[in-house]
Amino acid sequence: CGIVGYIGKDDTKDILLEGLQKLEYRGYDSAGIATLSGEELHVFKVKGRIAALREEVDPNVKASLGIGHTRWATHGAPSKENAHPHQSDSGRFTIVHNGVIENYNQIRKEYLGDVELKSETDTEIIVQLIELLHRKTDNTKEAFRQAVELLSGSYALALIDSRDEDTIYVAKNKSPLLVGLGDGFNMVVSDSMAGLQATNEFMELMDKEIVIVKREDVTVEKLDGTEVERESFTAEIDSMDIEKGTYPHFMLKEVDEQPFVIRKIIQEYQDEDDRIKLDPEVREAMKECDRIYIIAAGTSYHAGLVGKQFLEKISGIPTEVHVASEFSYNMPLLSEKPLFVFISQSGETADSRSVLVQTKKLGHPALTLTNVPGSTLSREADYTLHLHAGPEIAVASTKAYTAQIAVLAILAVDTARAKGIELEFDPMQELGIAANAMEALTDQKEELENLTREYLSTTRNCFFIGRSIDHYVGVEGALKLKEISYIQAEGFAGGELKHGTIALIEEGTPVIALATQESVSPSIRGNVQEVEARGANTLTISMKGIEEEGDEFAIPKVHDLLTPLATVIPLQLIAYYAALHRDCDVDKPRNLAKSVTVE
Ligand code: G6P
Repeated sequence: CGIVGYIGKDDTKDILLEGLQKLEYRGYDSAGIATLSGEELHVFKVKGRIAALREEVDPNVKASLGIGHTRWATHGAPSKENAHPHQSDSGRFTIVHNGVIENYNQIRKEYLGDVELKSETDTEIIVQLIELLHRKTDNTKEAFRQAVELLSGSYALALIDSRDEDTIYVAKNKSPLLVGLGDGFNMVVSDSMAGLQATNEFMELMDKEIVIVKREDVTVEKLDGTEVERESFTAEIDSMDIEKGTYPHFMLKEVDEQPFVIRKIIQEYQDEDDRIKLDPEVREAMKECDRIYIIAAGTSYHAGLVGKQFLEKISGIPTEVHVASEFSYNMPLLSEKPLFVFISQSGETADSRSVLVQTKKLGHPALTLTNVPGSTLSREADYTLHLHAGPEIAVASTKAYTAQIAVLAILAVDTARAKGIELEFDPMQELGIAANAMEALTDQKEELENLTREYLSTTRNCFFIGRSIDHYVGVEGALKLKEISYIQAEGFAGGELKHGTIALIEEGTPVIALATQESVSPSIRGNVQEVEARGANTLTISMKGIEEEGDEFAIPKVHDLLTPLATVIPLQLIAYYAALHRDCDVDKPRNLAKSVTVE
């Protein structure tokens, strides 16, 4: 799931290990590095964490060229054998790979009949293929180029040839990969975070280019050999943003940053005359479309569910929200003038990108809301709106979710105004109020930790119920809880629980009920009665002004439509403390990756 390569003057081990450490947040289950000095190649791999890899690496090895990898298993279980780098039979070629090779079976059958494979990975197929092609061509670049031509699927590749200390061979298709440019050194990274320790100057790579990375220069070629000129860009991330500071976990830091992110968004999306500042082309596209299709995955999908409320209720545009991986294989009938809105923290989620590729082919316009403006989804869509949340490192998404909701609210109001709809809702003022409420909530950690202890300390499961917009926050609360504490959790529409799932309520089953919406307050309170009558241990989260006696927690008063910004904070903190009390790895939960670049 992460690649870092270095070619320069300094000893590469520490640079690779530090880079891999910076990629840890993306989730992985094994890791490895290969270094080359003269013709002396060393490969170190472990199942487990970078800390274990550090122990494994021989401190006496010195080399100024190397490649490293963190793996999130797709083909073959997490193990030392399946960890990257992988080597060809003779040991001459060594490779790291992110992505999934779709035709690996076919390549194995057609080309690698006699080769005995040492791992269960699709990656080994690539490096064995390169060795085979090298036997015919006696030219590493040509063998690499021919291999790239044969591969289908997604990949980011960095290859070294142990007879050539001066080159890293690089190519990508669908999976992200950048070259980091330095003085007397260059790097290859799947995420700029892995290179920021050494440089903030990067070069983007396009699909199916052959990139030759040397100490002093980088050449980019198309598959047919024509050279391509490519400008570099400066990453605007401050390496301080990716440090935990005094926080025990990135997640807690990111939860606390949310009010500031909302204030930053207000600033970024407002001009001097307090009008909404938005790309006029986005405004036009929003005004022109007859239906919006929101495409996203995970937490971003949940933000999309809230966004639908804004787009329909404020801007009056029919809006559908789709899970990317489903849409891509089961496309619904589309309206005449659809606008696709991709919501993605990372901008790299392969499921979403697959939809973008298809809808672009159909000629439909696309807008991406992302936290990473240079990302694939941002580059490939017609328009981008930036979330301004700053790097989100914890795997469980928090501040990107609230940023997505805030930007969607601004977008909905801007569209309504462009369409001449009279509104009483002042988004910037209401977002300011919400930011204050969020700040107050982040100060209630002790109370929330106590509630977590009281309700979730021994439970195996937990239900979240809510109606209308609270329902959508409930599903996000359930996702947070299961992602990091491994408690089985589900979010339901309050009225739906009785149609089946209520069978699971036993004496003491925790049910977290969200009751922040005045219009549905009596109904959700009725649902609370129903589950309590069957033994549930209910924790009701309501809102000041409509709270009732006995409610365990109430968020400060915010606008009805913006309650998710506030309600989600106690849910994030409950998930955090539940994970902490269970000794779970809060920032790097098992089996998960921060951005999933495979379909
Ligand atoms: C992964 C992460 C989730 C995230 C989802 C979508 O599965 O573990 O936390 O919500 O991807 O990511 P995106 O970057 O597209 O928002």
